[in-house]
Amino acid sequence: MTKKRYVICGVSARANGMFIRNMLDTFQAYCEIVGLLDADPARFRNCFAKFPALSGKPVYRPDQFDQMIQETKPDVILVAGADHTHADYIVKGLERNLDVISEKPMVTTGADCKRVLDAQAASHGRLYVAFNYRYSPVHTRIKELILEGRVGRITSVDLNWYLDTYHGASYFKRWNRKRSHSGGLSIHKSTHHFDLVNWWIDQVPLEAFSYGALHYYGAEGELNPAKEDGRFCGTCRVKPACTYAMRWSSRSKETVPADDHVGQIEVKPSSYTGYRADACIFDSEIDIEDTYTAVVKYDRGALLSYSVNFSLPYEGYRLAINGTKGRLETMEMVSGRASFEVPPQTIDYYPLFGGKETIHVVPRPGGHGGGDPLLLEDLFLGPDPLRSYDILAGAAAGARSVLTGEAVWKSVRTGKPVRIEELLVPSEPTGIGGG
Ligand SMILES: NC(=O)c1ccc[n+]([C@@H]2O[C@H](COP(=O)([O-])OP(=O)(O)OC[C@H]3O[C@@H](n4cnc5c(N)ncnc54)[C@H](O)[C@@H]3O)[C@@H](O)[C@H]2O)c1
Repeated sequence: MTKKRYVICGVSARANGMFIRNMLDTFQAYCEIVGLLDADPARFRNCFAKFPALSGKPVYRPDQFDQMIQETKPDVILVAGADHTHADYIVKGLERNLDVISEKPMVTTGADCKRVLDAQAASHGRLYVAFNYRYSPVHTRIKELILEGRVGRITSVDLNWYLDTYHGASYFKRWNRKRSHSGGLSIHKSTHHFDLVNWWIDQVPLEAFSYGALHYYGAEGELNPAKEDGRFCGTCRVKPACTYAMRWSSRSKETVPADDHVGQIEVKPSSYTGYRADACIFDSEIDIEDTYTAVVKYDRGALLSYSVNFSLPYEGYRLAINGTKGRLETMEMVSGRASFEVPPQTIDYYPLFGGKETIHVVPRPGGHGGGDPLLLEDLFLGPDPLRSYDILAGAAAGARSVLTGEAVWKSVRTGKPVRIEELLVPSEPTGIGGG
């Protein structure tokens, strides 16, 4: 068997923890990493220290992409840097007829969705978007129940997503807090949620209307202990008076919650160049929202009612999917940081006429509800032949979730509903149907 040759564009925490670690271990018979590209040379040093097997592999700056391709001759471009860097590498990879794997969100704007869709249409290469939430056992079971016809024709979906003050705050401490870098949280984070709904119900989003606000974070945040920009938790003189910092810390030493799957709340200056993960959540640099409520209309009639809030006492979500034959309901509460006993997540099925059924789902080990390892198998070994439905996302699904997120924040700005296809600029419709 020949190994596929991979280059990594963006040697991020995610690239190291999700991809590189597993490519060098579980999937070493199938993968060879032949080059790394990043804007910060410190990322290469850190990566080589973590994974000595990679030492000596060629490294490249962003402006050396072409040289990297010529010298390393990859089969696949793996894109895992900050969100705003994805589009260029995806397009360049597809233009060279290479396969591309991109972290979510695929891109951060409708204009970049258009570039990627056009590049995909003209390419022999194939883009895969790493939507790991699809693979969690609860989420695949919901997909299967819908495919089995238990819900009937889907008419409406209610989805409320909750992030706690630990995980939620992490989105305001780094580059994610700038819309120019992340697209805002209706893209950076909600891309997962919109993708799940789009995939479950298999309908195409047409229009969104939404309200949004910056309620907790930013300079006007009610719990800001001092109106002073440029602070970092690691060196902040007013930190003892900051309830967000102290909720997850102590006065004598820094502490990190046991279930630190976020892994990003560093309180020391990092070894990276010009990069700290502990910037103050009350800085006026923050230009994104932390609360949204939105409605989305779909092509075959379904209506989504969605909300997300980034500063709540516990983490999880509530979901209901309604159809002409029944209703699915589930609620997740993330156990690691909850201050109370959390029940295991089940799915309740209510037929339109008849008794309720509770479906238990076998938990799996691994990140994101056990979804990460299954996604990696599909990406590196090819789609599971025993699965009877499509689960690996491509450019169209990546675009639909980003466009929904852009429609949401643009609706917040304009106070008007936003048609999703109109965000695909230039205005020629490329079409976002398909897989
Ligand atoms: N699917 C998930 O559950 C999940 C979880 C975490 C992160 N992510 C995604 O993974 C990606 C990385 O996130 P992270 O928090 O690990 O990032 P990070 O902050 O650890 O790293 C960002 C990287 O981008 C690099 N970079 C900046 N400009 C660049 C350029 N022009 N070209 C190449 N690299 C450049 C930085 O130097 C850095 O190495 C993001 O797209 C994020 O949305 C996905």
